[in-house]
Amino acid sequence: MYKEILEKVQKEFTINQKLHPRYYHTIGVIEMALTLNYHHQLNLDPAKVFLASAFHDIAKLLDKESMLTILQQNFLEEANELKDYPAVWHSFVGAVYAKEKYQINDEEILNAIKYHTTGRPNMTDLEKIVFISDYIEKNTRTEASMIEARKLAYNNLDEAVKKILIDTIAYLEKNEKSIYRLTKDTLEFYK
Ligand SMILES: [Fe+2]
Ligand SMILES: [Fe+2]
Repeated sequence: MYKEILEKVQKEFTINQKLHPRYYHTIGVIEMALTLNYHHQLNLDPAKVFLASAFHDIAKLLDKESMLTILQQNFLEEANELKDYPAVWHSFVGAVYAKEKYQINDEEILNAIKYHTTGRPNMTDLEKIVFISDYIEKNTRTEASMIEARKLAYNNLDEAVKKILIDTIAYLEKNEKSIYRLTKDTLEFYK
């Protein structure tokens, strides 16, 4: 199964016969999430960890038009609000895309994909390790704050979630980008 999934992800991230860096990031997330599951003895089914990680960014390279269409068709309530937060789109869209194109029907996996950018209050362990691994994986996340968060993640997952949100919000503020409500709610919860 694992090999076939990786081939699908690889195909999705191949543009003009070249593999997009997003593929290496995805491999890093798979490795990190499996490591955290083992390290913290979360006893999550490794197949679930693998699938959620492998598909977390699956919609990342879709064009904006398709993303907006999928959002409007599937998240009527959130679609309007989400308009101003394009960085979040691929997570919500990814959950739909993974379900429809790759027949992922497990709600826990779909939610881990859906909330990997914003997190949400009271995350499941699976949601948490995908959210964290997205920020700290070793292949492309090389900034000091990311390495710091990686150290934290081995000690305490909730502390890592908190740090990642604080860093993310600080980054968005610095770049004068608005912060999605759910991101703020998640930080409130983990503070
Ligand atoms: Fe992402
Ligand atoms: Fe990612």
